Amino acid sequence: MEDTLRRALILSAILLAQGVWGESGYDAWLRYRPVEHRDPLPAAVVAEGDSAVIASAREELIRGIRGMLGRTLRIEPRPPVEGAIVLRSTNSGLPDGFELKGEGGSIVVAGATDRGVLYGVFALLRKIALGETVKNLNERQTPWFDVRWVNQWDNLDGSIERGYGGRSLFWENSHARADLRRVSDYGRLLASVGINGCSINNVNANPRILASDLLPEIVRIADALRRWGVRTVLSVDFGSPKTIGGLNTFDPLDAGVAEWWKAKADEIYRAIPDLGGFVLKADSEGRAGPSAYGRTHADAANVIARALKPHGGLLFYRGFVYDHHMDWNNLKNDRARAAVDNFRELDGKFEANVVLQVKNGPIDFQVREPVSPLFGALEKTNPSLELQITQEYMGQARHTVFLAPMWKQTLDFDLRVRGEPTPVKRLAKGGIIGVANAGLDENWFGNHLSQANLYGFGRLAWNPGLSSERIAGEWARLTFGDNLKVADVVSHILLTSWRTYENYTGPLGLQTLTDITGNHYGVNVEASERNGWGQWHRADDKGVGMDRSVATGTGFIGQYWPEVARVYESLDTCPDDLLLFMHHVAYTHVLHSGKTVIQSLYDSHYDGAEAVEGYVKQWRELRGLVDERRYQEVLAQLEYQAGQAEVWRDAVTNWFFRASKAPDAKGRVGRYPGRWEAESAQLQGYQAADVTPWESASGGKAAVCGSARCTAQFSYSGRPGWFDVRVQYFDQNNGAARYRVWVNDQMVDEWTAADHLPTQKIDGSSSTRRTIGGLALRPGDRIRVEGWPDGGEVAALDYIEIVGPGG
Ligand code: GCU
Repeated sequence: MEDTLRRALILSAILLAQGVWGESGYDAWLRYRPVEHRDPLPAAVVAEGDSAVIASAREELIRGIRGMLGRTLRIEPRPPVEGAIVLRSTNSGLPDGFELKGEGGSIVVAGATDRGVLYGVFALLRKIALGETVKNLNERQTPWFDVRWVNQWDNLDGSIERGYGGRSLFWENSHARADLRRVSDYGRLLASVGINGCSINNVNANPRILASDLLPEIVRIADALRRWGVRTVLSVDFGSPKTIGGLNTFDPLDAGVAEWWKAKADEIYRAIPDLGGFVLKADSEGRAGPSAYGRTHADAANVIARALKPHGGLLFYRGFVYDHHMDWNNLKNDRARAAVDNFRELDGKFEANVVLQVKNGPIDFQVREPVSPLFGALEKTNPSLELQITQEYMGQARHTVFLAPMWKQTLDFDLRVRGEPTPVKRLAKGGIIGVANAGLDENWFGNHLSQANLYGFGRLAWNPGLSSERIAGEWARLTFGDNLKVADVVSHILLTSWRTYENYTGPLGLQTLTDITGNHYGVNVEASERNGWGQWHRADDKGVGMDRSVATGTGFIGQYWPEVARVYESLDTCPDDLLLFMHHVAYTHVLHSGKTVIQSLYDSHYDGAEAVEGYVKQWRELRGLVDERRYQEVLAQLEYQAGQAEVWRDAVTNWFFRASKAPDAKGRVGRYPGRWEAESAQLQGYQAADVTPWESASGGKAAVCGSARCTAQFSYSGRPGWFDVRVQYFDQNNGAARYRVWVNDQMVDEWTAADHLPTQKIDGSSSTRRTIGGLALRPGDRIRVEGWPDGGEVAALDYIEIVGPGG
């Protein structure tokens, strides 16, 4: 015993000494922890040029080398004879590329712009951090996309639409934050992966962003980002000439309106000469737009683009335009068609500095979608590819979902325009945009592993040819250190996580079966149906899927070029992963995998849930190899995810079981050995209540506490032994109920339900679990759960489940 204690103490001392006891995640992949590095490095740094960006590059270099190698580079005005790391901007005006070259005893980091120098420094530091050689360097890199921007959907009140990492870095109470150091640190993170622009307010723009009195505050934000080579971009509201400009119209063809936009752009560029431009969401989801005056999207885009043109600014016009009041009963209606239907005929009518900002898929960042056919439908207009880094439909940073593999599929997808090889990465000439939504949480995104998505976005924006494996491996090592086992486990979790999440939330092209009209988080299979939003899957008692074929469906497939359309149109060639996106088929339809649709739906949900259980086990093996704080935080996140994956699994499989009446060949659906429903327990104070949607609670019901204290008692009748007891309960966000669990007269656990899950309701979003490990149970034992409601939270219970130790 003493020995164990001594060893534990020594281990903690070592960990403390290494400074790895508790990392917050704030440094993300820029931790610059000590590394073994054998190549000789010059002792001095010479920065040629004195711009703010070059100064950042020099500071970063010194910081990185000091952290990793424990040496402080001397700042010299010119290279000493023994050599230096020379930062040189050739100012050729070419976009952002750099060279790393060994020259005598020196290493030259040469950039085509100051930004290129900065990127070269980050690349050099990354090499050192990854243990790559820096001897005889001779390499050149240029970014694939010129525009590599993130969009932040931050509101001026400090909230972030679809943000899961805390409040806004930029805004608070309708003003820019007084302290913008976090903005500058964010700029550094962005620059480290080559991102060169950032929109700083929600696409659902508050018109006040263009109010003159706010401009000095935007200038401060632009200053904080500029030193990292990140240009500021504003989202604007199309109604602004009227709402804040005092005009009585915002008609894009009105001369006064054109004047107003011009004067506004002039005013902003006087204050921020390097502003990247504007983003505009018009006539979409209730936003003001040109339809108010019977004008076209081209009219709308052009009036603003002309105002930006003299300043070199770009207008990013969102292609995300669709009718959200569509008639559900009309089987020919199809939201997926909207982008091409709205924009194809306007091709050639846009000013040269208009870029259409097109989401990767035709719907809305679902777990799996085909590539938007709009990329192949524009010949004279530049589209840019919009991806979502923030995990709106991807588990909201509560679930680990690494998106680089999905983005790579999009970037590489060949649309066969005119029968030629035309991957999306070549068609997206207007650049690449990621909706990032980092926030004030210490780890920026609310989940350590979610940082990998920003990293992956930047790396792919720079070089879409990088493999997901390479990106995951780099990130894992930079973020969690050089231990091989850690890198393996982290890479494995990341690289399988998208498929895993898809498996339990929306396989076969169903889209994410979530609460579409609500929080986009928990399970709600029918939320997409019988409304105008158009995310229909049309499941009934015989079959499932949207018929988008040309022959019998909405004709969406006909928006692709023939070679691609042929593949999707035929059931023989349509990939299983997109089958239900493209076709309506019977549950008994046999997939290429050889399984029926219904069995595949059952199996993938069980596979997905099991995979997350596996992540928990694999992560547990990293104890002591990762600093304790991040170890515990990631563990808690993965354990929560494992519970949620089961909620999803049970909900979706039961829903389809009820609809199809097709039994699960493996006998799992509807049978939960070891599970005791709360509503069937011996209840005091608790009352059984129906849950909506029914599939989000086991048995469709929960036990809800209507008094100050309630109890639910279960009588254990299984075999004697050691078990884990899982209490599945509902953690609403309008209170902090307390729970206690007793076995006979012994209290074995207590906790407060104070997590911040995105709902006040008792449903799949609030459903969560507490696992009490290692309990010895004998038949006849009484397991009693006590609940104390608080505020609106009613200490609701779904079930307890008794499983073998360790799940
Ligand atoms: C999604 C998201 C909205 C957002 C919209 C957009 O629908 O849920 O919050 O405004 O996309 O991209 O404009």
